[in-house]
Amino acid sequence: MEKLLEGKVCIVTGAARGIGKATAMKYAQHGANVVLIDLNKESIAGIAEEIESLGVRALSLAVDVTSSKEINNAFLEIEDKFTKIDVLANCAGIVTSKLILDIEEEEWDRVFNVNLKSIFLLSKRVAKNMVKNKVANGKIISISSQASKIGEVGNGAYCASKAGVNSLTQVLGLELAEYGISVNSVCPGYVNTEMMQQVFQKRGPIEGMTPQEYEESLTSQVPMKRLAEPEEIAELMLFLSSEKANYITGISITIAGGKTII
Ligand SMILES: NC(=O)c1ccc[n+]([C@@H]2O[C@H](COP(=O)([O-])OP(=O)(O)OC[C@H]3O[C@@H](n4cnc5c(N)ncnc54)[C@H](O)[C@@H]3O)[C@@H](O)[C@H]2O)c1
Repeated sequence: MEKLLEGKVCIVTGAARGIGKATAMKYAQHGANVVLIDLNKESIAGIAEEIESLGVRALSLAVDVTSSKEINNAFLEIEDKFTKIDVLANCAGIVTSKLILDIEEEEWDRVFNVNLKSIFLLSKRVAKNMVKNKVANGKIISISSQASKIGEVGNGAYCASKAGVNSLTQVLGLELAEYGISVNSVCPGYVNTEMMQQVFQKRGPIEGMTPQEYEESLTSQVPMKRLAEPEEIAELMLFLSSEKANYITGISITIAGGKTII
């Protein structure tokens, strides 16, 4: 098997489960050393062991990605262990299922802090490391969502925060191009993770359906008639993180089984 990330150092946030975990495992299978960041300390410690059994190095760090203080402390450890960083995969994210008329300011802020501010904080920190160490072809990839491109009932804070991710991706792509750093985002449709199960449970009733009916209703709107598996999103993350994608920057690629043809 051709290993696309041999010897690279990749940071993955939201690495404890779902898309982040699948991305971290995919990177390791392709020869990368992986830094796993999440709130769930036990889960990332277990995944780090699994990754090291593949013959690469791993570091798991319990960090709240909304906290610049915690991020700065984490970077002391990351740079001590690995010095330079080649790839940042921003996968941490949260969803809240509330109509705009019902959502409180605190919940709105929390969604924006996790989904958007964290990407500003981490991308800035990683880009500084890449520039300082003259990293060739650095990569920053963020998980956005198809919800960034379409409005969804009961999902306002999430949709708006993910639209912000696409915009930040464009700006970072422009500002970091002179350093050879590519910045892109990936916009998945419905992916089979615990977050999606939460959405079925909470947004179904807002739409007047049981969770099961809501799942069937969403799946029926996907031309490919199924959810994506996290590993399918990880394949695109891998490609965009590799040297094969050196000339791709500033874009937000949809991977949604045909749901949003945009
Ligand atoms: N599942 C989907 O259908 C779907 C679709 C489009 C986009 N996305 C996006 O993909 C990304 C991953 O989603 P998922 O479905 O794997 O979700 P998930 O809920 O299964 O996993 C998210 C991970 O992020 C971590 N996290 C949350 N807040 C954090 C914080 N403040 N600091 C550190 N870690 C934190 C969680 O602990 C969890 O391990 C998210 O950005 C999500 O918005 C998911």
